[in-house]
Order: sequence, then C-alpha cells, then structure tokens
Amino acid sequence: MAGREYEKEMERARRDLRALISSKTCAPIMLRLAWHDAGTYDAKTETGGPNASIRNQAELSHAANAGLNIAIQLCEEIKARNPRISYADLYQLAGVVAVEVTGGPTIEFVPGRKDSMASPEEGRLPDAKQGASHLRNVFNRMGLSDQDIVALSGGHTLGRAHRERSGFEGPWTQDPLKFDNSYFVELLKGDSKGLLKLPTDKVLVEDPEFRKYVIMYAEDEEAFFRDYAASHKRLSELGFSPP
Ligand code: HEM
Repeated sequence: MAGREYEKEMERARRDLRALISSKTCAPIMLRLAWHDAGTYDAKTETGGPNASIRNQAELSHAANAGLNIAIQLCEEIKARNPRISYADLYQLAGVVAVEVTGGPTIEFVPGRKDSMASPEEGRLPDAKQGASHLRNVFNRMGLSDQDIVALSGGHTLGRAHRERSGFEGPWTQDPLKFDNSYFVELLKGDSKGLLKLPTDKVLVEDPEFRKYVIMYAEDEEAFFRDYAASHKRLSELGFSPP
C-alpha cells in the first residue's frame, strides 16, 4: 500500500487514540496492552514480539493477560475508522499515545509492523512474584538490558493492579493517571499505605545494578524520560525492521 496513505491514516489513528484515551481514561491498560504484545519476544527464535498475536484468544487467555480484552475491544473502534492500519501498529501506537497524553515523553514511532496469529507458549512475560534473575532472564531473552528493565518498569507510574486480574491490588503512585518519575520516588521511600509494590518492583531497589538507575530516575525526571523513551521504542520494535 502507498506509504503516504498509510502515514495519513496513522495520523488519524493517533488523533482518534488521543480522544479515546482521554475520554475513557484508559491510558494504563493501553500501555499494558502494548507491553504484553511486545514482551513475548524471543531474540533467539525470532518469535513473539509486537505482532498483535495477543488478539488471538489462545494468547489473550494466558493468565498474564487477564483484563486486556478491554483494551483490545477499545482498539476495535480505532481499527474500524482506520482499517488499513495493522493491529500490530495500532497496539504499539496506543502505548505511545498513552504515555504522551498522560504527560510522559514523546516516543518516536515508526509504522510497518505485520500482523500474526502465531501465539507463543504461555510463560514468556515476567512473573511478578519472582526476583532479579528471573527479570534478567525474561528481558535478556528479548535482547533488553538492566537499564531497559528499570526504565520500562517506570511504566508502573500509570495504572494499578486489580485483584480479580492478577491477585494484586492498588496503584504504585498517588496519581496513577500522570506519567512522571513518582514510581521511583515511591520505590525509594519504601512501603506506604495504599500503594502497591510487587516483588519485581522491590527487587529494583535491592539489586545494586538496578538500584543505581532507580536512584538516578528518582532524582532526575529528565533522565528518566530520555531513557524511558529510548527503551520503550526498543520494546515496540523487537524483531521489527522498518520497511
Ligand atoms: C500492571 C506486572 C513490567 C505497564 C501490572 C500488573 C502486574 C504487572 C501484576 C497488575 C495487572 C492487574 O491486576 O490489572 C509486571 C511485571 C513486570 C512489569 C512483573 C516486570 C518488570 C511492565 C512494563 C510496563 C508495564 C515494562 C510498561 C512499559 C503496566 C501498566 C499497568 C501494569 C501500565 C497498569 C494496568 C492497569 O491499570 O490496568 N503489571 N509489569 N509493566 N503494568 Fe506491569
């Protein structure tokens, strides 16, 4: 399809997503959708990744994806108005727009992802009950580093856990609809009433390699925004070479 027409439709989808995310206050679940579609990537076998296979019922019903049917359904509205856009581009664009409209950094977006219905086996996304070596195994499998792990975990500045979805409950920050560095500030403060810290969040302050990034991002929001934007772009492009 002509590149220019696709670009035009991408621009309209971006505007539609901004309106939808603002009116439905669904930025957190849109970001989680983009991350869970991309985060199955395995660099060795070049399987998984941001290819919209998450819309396949077999994958959507993996325990880690509980609740994401809501985000997929919301994206259908945008797809209906912009039918040329691949689902894979749409889900990643939704993640980028979610970060931007809640006050986060601008993330460069390159379209051209292809859709797939080939779902990976269950168990590729991180398990919140595990520790540092598990986090490293999962993110290194994608080709991502310690710094990516910490920067991307800052995505928990948005949203909250729902007991009926994950067994955990509550937000990570005081304002879960604002993208800022408060996730790191709260991590360093330790437990506070009403705020959630998953075992995999806590490990970021306990592990000395992770901890140095937590301190940097808590002290310097600009550094967090710069690194987050770069890590998010990498995540959104795993296994993807722009056409
Ligand atoms: C929510 C685990 C990394 C973005 C959650 C929830 C869990 C979780 C258990 C709660 C789900 C629910 O009950 O609704 C983890 C683990 C990670 C990780 C173990 C490993 C580091 C990330 C990354 C991002 C992200 C890299 C994005 C860059 C989100 C968002 C929510 C969320 C935005 C809130 C969703 C909502 O409010 O509905 N995560 N996550 N997470 N996660 Fe993560």
